[in-house]
Parts: sequence; C-alpha cells; structure tokens
Amino acid sequence: MRALVVDHSAAAHLSWAEAPDPIPAPGESLVRVEAVSLNYGEVKGAANPQTPDGTMIGWDAAGVVVKAAADGSGPAKGTRVVTLGSEAGWAEMRAVPANLLGVVPEDADLGAVSTVPIAGLSALHVVRRLGPLLGRRVMITGASGGVGRYAVQLAARAGAEVVAISRNPAQADGLRSLGAHEVHTEPAAVDQPVSAVLDNVGGHQLVDAFAALQAHGVLVNVGRSSEANAVFPPEALLGNEGRHDRSIRTFFLFADPATDFSADLAWLAAEVTAGRLDPGIRWRGPWTRYDEAVQALLGRRLHGKAVLDIG
Ligand SMILES: NC(=O)c1ccc[n+]([C@@H]2O[C@H](COP(=O)([O-])OP(=O)(O)OC[C@H]3O[C@@H](n4cnc5c(N)ncnc54)[C@H](OP(=O)(O)O)[C@@H]3O)[C@@H](O)[C@H]2O)c1
Repeated sequence: MRALVVDHSAAAHLSWAEAPDPIPAPGESLVRVEAVSLNYGEVKGAANPQTPDGTMIGWDAAGVVVKAAADGSGPAKGTRVVTLGSEAGWAEMRAVPANLLGVVPEDADLGAVSTVPIAGLSALHVVRRLGPLLGRRVMITGASGGVGRYAVQLAARAGAEVVAISRNPAQADGLRSLGAHEVHTEPAAVDQPVSAVLDNVGGHQLVDAFAALQAHGVLVNVGRSSEANAVFPPEALLGNEGRHDRSIRTFFLFADPATDFSADLAWLAAEVTAGRLDPGIRWRGPWTRYDEAVQALLGRRLHGKAVLDIG
C-alpha cells in the first residue's frame, strides 16, 4: 500500500513510501482509508529531527471496513467508520481495534468525520471534565483551532455561556456563529470571572485564564500552542477575595489506550453528518497535495482543520 512516511530530506518532512498492508490482529478490523485529518501535534512530530525517517504517522482516518475483525469485535465488512490511532493513519490501509473505531452514518462525508477523533474527542472529554455547564461561564482559549471550535460548540450545547479567546479579531463572527457568547483577543480582556477554562494555548494565556477563574473553578490544559512558558507571579496563587480552591488539571487523550472511544466517535460523527456540529474544515484537497496542508498547519495559517482525501 501507499503511505506517507517521515523523510527529513523532503518538503514537509514527509514522502511517499510503499509499505506492506497491515496484518490485523484477531481483534482488529482492516480499514481502507478514504480521508485523513491533520493535527498540529503530528505534523510537528514528523518535523522533529528525533523522529526517524520511515516512521508512519497519522492519528485520524476515516474509511470503509474491508475485513471484519476475526474475533467478531468490530463492524461488518463494508461498514463506514472513523478511526483513531497513535500512528500509521496516513496510509491506504489501517488495522484498528474496536475501541478506537466508530461507525458513521451511511451518508457521512468521510472527510468531514475524519476531523472527529483527536479534535472532537479531546473537546468532548474535556468539556465533560469541566462538570455540569448549564448557566456557567466557560472560557476556551485557542478557540479558532481544531479542538477549540469543537469545544465552543459542545460547551454551548451543554448550556454554558461560552467566552472564546482568539488572538485574531477576524475569527470573532465565526466563533459567535458556533455558539460563543463573548469573543476576546486574550483572557486578560475578560472582565467577569469564569467557572471553568479549557486551555489550548498555555503560556501567558494560561496564567491570565487562571486569574479569571472564580472560587472552586477548574482550568483543564489541553495544549501548549503558544509553546511559551507559563510564569505565575506570586500573587496569582492567592486564595483570597473569592478565588480559593481553584485548580489546574492536565489532560491526555491517549492516557489509557484501552479507553473505549467507539460510542463517542460514532456520536460525534453522527452530529457532524447531521449538520449539528461544524468540523471547521479550512483546507481540503487530495493527499497528493499533503505538503500544502502540512506547511499551512506548521505555518499557523489554518484556523481549523485540514483534510486530505485519499484515492
Ligand atoms: N492533550 C491532548 O491529548 C491533546 C489533544 C489534542 C490536542 N492537543 C494540543 O492542543 C492544542 C490545540 O490543538 P489544535 O489541534 O486545536 O491546534 P490548532 O488547530 O493549531 O489550534 C491552536 C489555536 O491556538 C491559538 N493560539 C494562540 N496562541 C498561539 C500561538 N502563540 N501560536 C499558535 N497558536 C496560538 C490559535 O488561535 P488564534 O490564532 O485564533 O488565537 C490556534 O487556532 C495543541 O497544542 C495540540 O497539540 C492536545
């Protein structure tokens, strides 16, 4: 099969390779991949000199089951699915265990649902971690990104008053249309406290978002898009004036590889297909143009997802 593999001598640190078709374990379905979505973390990982040439990367992929799992744990041959994995998604075939695969509607656009695994699942799982959101103010930093767009929509649907943060004022109207009640260019501009924060950015945005938390509030850090240090002045950790018992929690989607993501993948894909969740696709093209998509992502020119169609 054809696959995109790490090649540090090539543009975008990737090139084509012929690789053997994966041999599925008894609990794995063999999927013919029809579309993949790109995440900043994986293209950054491919560009990392420590990643050996030949590494098959790729987290998000959607396609069709061509061989059902031998132990009966997965869907039947011919089922359209979306898949998650820690490697080898950017290839024509992928072997996937049942817990990392969700069945998608018959009429699903496989490119649209390919955006669901990393971005959609991370947003969904962190929004759940923030607790009941009805009537509560929730800040989302990096709101214009892949995770952020899903998070704005999911938090708004959970009843939150969403305070979205994007450095780029041109993103404001789009974020309001996704359900944001307020849009600011930085957390320091938010004048009313919030109950919870989903932080995709780190650095000073994390520090300022923590300062906006009210007592008992929680900040869940998903990412560090700013790649900057988060430096807290001593008074940031004071617990007086109604700011006691605030916490910062870390998050890692793959923390437990045995997690059963299948129902959440299927639900998110169904919501995207029904038009109730906007996947925020900002670049889409054939996978032969992978270098354009990767360079746009690495150059921070995308405000949303990039999708490659295969075949
Ligand atoms: N822990 C996990 O399991 C997990 C899972 C998924 C993602 N992540 C991480 O979460 C973060 C968000 O993921 P994503 O896929 O949503 O990324 P993304 O699509 O690249 O979006 C990141 C957003 O951060 C904002 N941002 C603010 N300051 C920035 C800066 N200095 N440089 C670049 N962007 C900045 C940008 O929005 P504005 O320009 O509009 O401000 C951008 O849209 C990434 O760090 C990713 O690696 C972690």
